[in-house]
Amino acid sequence: MSIKYSKSMDFTHKVNALVSDLTTQLIAKEDYTQNILKIHENTYDESLCRDFCDMFIAAKRKAETECLPGVQWLTDVNVSATLVDLFIAGIETSFTTIQWLLLFMAYFEDWQQKLRVEIDEVLGDRVATMQDRPLMHCVQAFLAESLRYRTAAPIGSPRNTLLDTTIAGHPIASQTMVVQHTYNMSMNEKYWPRSSDFDPGRFLDKHVRPPAFIPFGTGRRVCIGESLALNIMFIFVVRFLQLTRDHPIRLTHKYRTDHTLEPLVNQNIFFLVPTDYEIVFEK
Ligand code: HEM
Repeated sequence: MSIKYSKSMDFTHKVNALVSDLTTQLIAKEDYTQNILKIHENTYDESLCRDFCDMFIAAKRKAETECLPGVQWLTDVNVSATLVDLFIAGIETSFTTIQWLLLFMAYFEDWQQKLRVEIDEVLGDRVATMQDRPLMHCVQAFLAESLRYRTAAPIGSPRNTLLDTTIAGHPIASQTMVVQHTYNMSMNEKYWPRSSDFDPGRFLDKHVRPPAFIPFGTGRRVCIGESLALNIMFIFVVRFLQLTRDHPIRLTHKYRTDHTLEPLVNQNIFFLVPTDYEIVFEK
């Protein structure tokens, strides 16, 4: 299946086209966030921090008053671009991952059951906190395998080399776009035996994640939202299963027989999304 995904696109052309398409979309979204920022500035009250925008404004004003280093970068354009970054980087990825998680819970009913048993034993009806994460091995393993098996961000953010360099012995010229192919890493048999099987068991009792596990990227520009995302996914899965305790979820008949878990192959190679599915709550 990884081969199918790779073959279905002329990789470099698609990345290039998408980068330029995304740039146009970002410019439009920046207009939108700049307006939001303006409204916040016009109604700003330093004794009241309403949200993220207010925090930015507070930081900007402090930097200006105290002439802090880097103040020149806190322009309206940069601040609104940062808001766009958070929307795209944080929301689309988390939303896509949640779509896969629901599908896997319904598709792999044995794992749904294992998760329910663990949640019952460790928490009962109590709402989970972050401190419960290390106690819940099945939930953690299920989340990790879901992120490996259908990683929401199949390629990392495109990067540009500033100098001639080498990567693993390959010469790369200055001003070359370099893209990390996370999906191929996630499906590589060398690191993940039986990589096309969904098997959370491969993560059970592993305290250190294998180096080939990179759904949040790697290196200095690794996802800044990783721990937030993992906490959100954990709380989501646990609470969802607690609230549906008496109503196990299943795929509807049509999708139970038809769904192959193949991702949607479309123009947007930045996100790996599932094809349509329907779930029902059993009585
Ligand atoms: C399941 C959820 C998420 C996944 C799979 C994910 C994945 C990624 C990946 C693969 C990258 C690129 C890293 C690289 O190029 O090496 C990235 C970057 C980033 N992510 Fe996430 N992310 C998630 C959630 C979040 C959340 C919740 C936030 C913020 C609230 C966030 C904020 C960012 C930002 C700002 C960057 C750019 C970092 C940089 O370029 O320095 N992400 N993410």
